[in-house]
Amino acid sequence: MKSRVHAAAGVLALSLITLFFTSSVVVEIFGDEHAVSTVKTAIALALIVLVPSMAIAGASGRSLSSGRRRAPLIRRKQRRTAVAAAVGLLVLVPCAVTLQSLAAEREFGTQFSLIQTVELIGGAVNITLLALNARDGRLLSAASRRRRKQRVPADAQS
Ligand code: HEM
Repeated sequence: MKSRVHAAAGVLALSLITLFFTSSVVVEIFGDEHAVSTVKTAIALALIVLVPSMAIAGASGRSLSSGRRRAPLIRRKQRRTAVAAAVGLLVLVPCAVTLQSLAAEREFGTQFSLIQTVELIGGAVNITLLALNARDGRLLSAASRRRRKQRVPADAQS
């Protein structure tokens, strides 16, 4: 159950960041100013879901790791999550809020383009980190399943 909550929160966070990234690129290329403003408002609102889902993924991941904190895959996941959280809170959230207010005032000049570029770079970094975490999570789950299966015959003997 805890593992399902963890995977759901992690995959939700990854999906939202990917959606923010692709919708920002698509609307910049094909949309008008109104469409850009709508997307920026939607992204700023969706932060209300993204921030808790990252926190839940991190906390549930730590709890799932009890007894194997020194395992290299887990240490790597922990480091990546710390970097992703820092990028999220220090880059993505401020960028999303600033872009939303600039778009609402129809200010699409150099400042908007610069902040949009920074947001896309931060988004790409976090998509990579969370995708690597999901891949390593699948490996960790497979290892847990193998350990559980090996334990069954031993338990049956006692
Ligand atoms: C937001 C970042 C994270 C994402 C996207 C993520 C994603 C995943 C996914 C998709 C799984 C596979 C679940 C399954 O196959 O049912 C998983 C498992 C796991 N994750 Fe994460 N994870 C994240 C952060 C963390 C952190 C910070 C830790 C601990 C330091 C962690 C520890 C684990 C462990 C131990 C498992 C295996 C659980 C088991 O034994 O079945 N994860 N993760």
